[in-house]
Amino acid sequence: MSNSVGIVILAAGKGTRMKTDQPKALAPCAGKPLLDYVVQAALNFAKNSSLKAEIGVVVGHRKELLEQWHTHHSEKSAIKTAWQREQNGTADALKACFKDLPHFWNYDYTLVACADTPLISEKEFQILFNELQSQPDLVGVAATFETAKPTGYGRIQKGKQGFRIIEEKDASEEEKKITEVNSAFYFLKTTHVKAILNQIDNKNKSGEFYLTDLFQQDFAVKAIKFPSEKPFLGINTLEQLANVDKIIRAEKVRQLMLEGVRFLDPSLVYIESDVLIGLGSIIYPGCTFLGKTKIGNNVTIESNCFIKNSQVEDGADILASSYLEEAVVHSEATIGPMARLRPGTVIGAEAKIGNFVEVKKSKLARGVKVSHLSYIGDAEIGENSNIGCGFITCNYDGANKHQTKIGSNSFIGSDCQAVAPIEIGNDAFVAAGTTITKSVPDGAFAIARSQQVTKEGAAKKFIKTKKK
Ligand code: UD1
Ligand code: MG
Repeated sequence: MSNSVGIVILAAGKGTRMKTDQPKALAPCAGKPLLDYVVQAALNFAKNSSLKAEIGVVVGHRKELLEQWHTHHSEKSAIKTAWQREQNGTADALKACFKDLPHFWNYDYTLVACADTPLISEKEFQILFNELQSQPDLVGVAATFETAKPTGYGRIQKGKQGFRIIEEKDASEEEKKITEVNSAFYFLKTTHVKAILNQIDNKNKSGEFYLTDLFQQDFAVKAIKFPSEKPFLGINTLEQLANVDKIIRAEKVRQLMLEGVRFLDPSLVYIESDVLIGLGSIIYPGCTFLGKTKIGNNVTIESNCFIKNSQVEDGADILASSYLEEAVVHSEATIGPMARLRPGTVIGAEAKIGNFVEVKKSKLARGVKVSHLSYIGDAEIGENSNIGCGFITCNYDGANKHQTKIGSNSFIGSDCQAVAPIEIGNDAFVAAGTTITKSVPDGAFAIARSQQVTKEGAAKKFIKTKKK
């Protein structure tokens, strides 16, 4: 019994209609490149179907960017790339795959998928495969759907046995009225591909080699009409990208609600597809969650927070208008309102970062309090130390950044500065208004401020009253 498939994902196109220089396959959609979605569907299919499968991605326009994408992919060993030198059409792209990866001819089946269709899932692949297998004479099946707006899609014209696909540009006014369209997902017997692919010409209005020519009215091919167009929504323009991006994010919010995340207004949240949020968490309106952000259970995130590639552990509170980027907040800590955690920041459990506090590349241990108006950069602060209002680490000398180290259970009074590199020990006390320029040992008291002079009754000399 036949049991192997080469899954070819076409991603070489420039995406001219997107009007951007980036290859279309890498255009971000809900936080991930378009290509990631199709590749994930293919990986899921490979894992869950009975078929032995391998993925080949055809790259072309700005291929160096797609190769970088490949290098960083977590499952890169399951994925190969092939190079289409000139973008002469989808059939030419498939040829490029077989040229660079000739062992793909040995697979019993060839599944062709396009990179610009991110709502596709393994389910559609499985349905196509089942249909192809159900009739032994069939050499190929294509997924189709009905749409009220067929513009841009290839139209399906049925024949006695099979069907053909007429591209928008080549369609007559009458043919353009056909509402069953091609999704550009095909499951084929590789023998059929081998017999036809090299015969496909480019005699059409685009001058391109169309893969759709693998289907003809006198071939044993079948159009499998799916009940919904949604899984096949193709992205050719920025408007279509925005539309599908919105669908993915809305689905994400719906899924999270099913998993026990409370959105006070689900329509007012921007959340990318890889973000994780744990059950019992409450999200106020106006928040943005990007990239690989991971929020634990029972976290409260008040309005207008921006959280990118960060981790917030169970029971933490992120108060209104806080900005977190590549930061880690351990459990039960409180951040904000209006705090900024910059990359490399780790906030310990039960710590408190208050309003107008900026923390950069610093590690604050359990129970540290920095409650108001401070800048902590390139620092380490030990457990339970209290940092008063207006503290500043002077970490930059105009050329280099330097470290500040503060031990555990120390108290730094308000309006102090620490001129780095500097160390303040454990159980130390720094008096308010001090500029620390020399390290302070464990248990020491440090003060650096000018002597106060008080002159009894002298205020009237300084108080000025306006002349009437
Ligand atoms: C294609 C189909 C059309 C279908 C539509 C569904 C063809 C000829 N037409 O049109 O029938 O209704 O998808 O979305 O296939 N690509 C390459 N190399 C190339 C050209 C394209 O790799 O030389 C890749 C693109 O990167 C893209 C995919 O093939 O991922 C489809 O190309 P695109 O230009 O988007 O085709 P459509 O016009 O959408
Ligand atoms: Mg397309």
